[in-house]
Amino acid sequence: MAKVITFSNQKGGVAKTTSAVMTVGNLVNRGYKVLLIDTDPQANATDFVAPHCDGTRSIYSVITGQHPVEEVIVHTEEFGDVLPSSSQLYNDEILSSNPFAIKEIIDAVRNSYDYIVIDTPPNLGKVQIADILASEYLVIPTKATRESVKGIQMLIDTIYQYLEYNPSMEIVGILVTMSDKRVLAVRENMKFIKQLAESIEVAVFSNWIRAAQALVGEAELFHTNVFARKARNKAKDDYDGFVSELLHRIERMEGKV
Ligand SMILES: Nc1ncnc2c1ncn2[C@@H]1O[C@H](COP(=O)(O)OP(=O)(O)O)[C@@H](O)[C@H]1O
Ligand SMILES: [Mg+2]
Repeated sequence: MAKVITFSNQKGGVAKTTSAVMTVGNLVNRGYKVLLIDTDPQANATDFVAPHCDGTRSIYSVITGQHPVEEVIVHTEEFGDVLPSSSQLYNDEILSSNPFAIKEIIDAVRNSYDYIVIDTPPNLGKVQIADILASEYLVIPTKATRESVKGIQMLIDTIYQYLEYNPSMEIVGILVTMSDKRVLAVRENMKFIKQLAESIEVAVFSNWIRAAQALVGEAELFHTNVFARKARNKAKDDYDGFVSELLHRIERMEGKV
């Protein structure tokens, strides 16, 4: 039975998509069966891992009953299975009558996977809420800037509002992305992040993701799973450390260790 891991933050540009795709690539490389669900109408994750998708079959067409999910999931060599998104999902009214639509899609396929990873859109609209209702383990990527930190409180407030309808969901932690510990402003802003995290009783992953334009940019451009390649890179190493920590924390939350 798959565990459902969601990368969520209403801010754009904090590496939600990159973290979701890197996590999927890493889990696939570890030998797990993984499904990536793209729920952002911008479809950046879809473009990264399955660039041939043209949007005619997508999570939108599953929610609206045009296609069964099995006919929409795309099998990729590098990143496992993908449920693509499409710009049609900007019409999020389709979730008004059933905010559990994404959970229902997951329930229909969860027996086939070890992990299901959800990439979310950069706002707190109906899709984000449907994602929260479908999630088991939430990761909040953020940059270590003062501005990025501000949004976290708002996100947590929204999450708590919906926890009533999905009480078993756990916030696994805050993942600091694109941040180099050697930069003074990063270290200073980390103090704010840790303070905030402590006050809301949320963990901060000890593995930070450093900025590494070459790796992320090239991987995106060439649609490659960096974990299946020999090339060494700091962001690749950081994501490997993060995934180990993520799996360990999940096991701990399940009471296994
Ligand atoms: N560790 C990193 N180093 C350098 N660039 C990164 C890193 N992570 C993400 N990026 C780049 O930052 C931009 C925003 O990342 P993205 O994952 O699309 O954020 P989001 O999904 O939160 O909007 C993208 O251009 C991406 O390639
Ligand atoms: Mg994104």
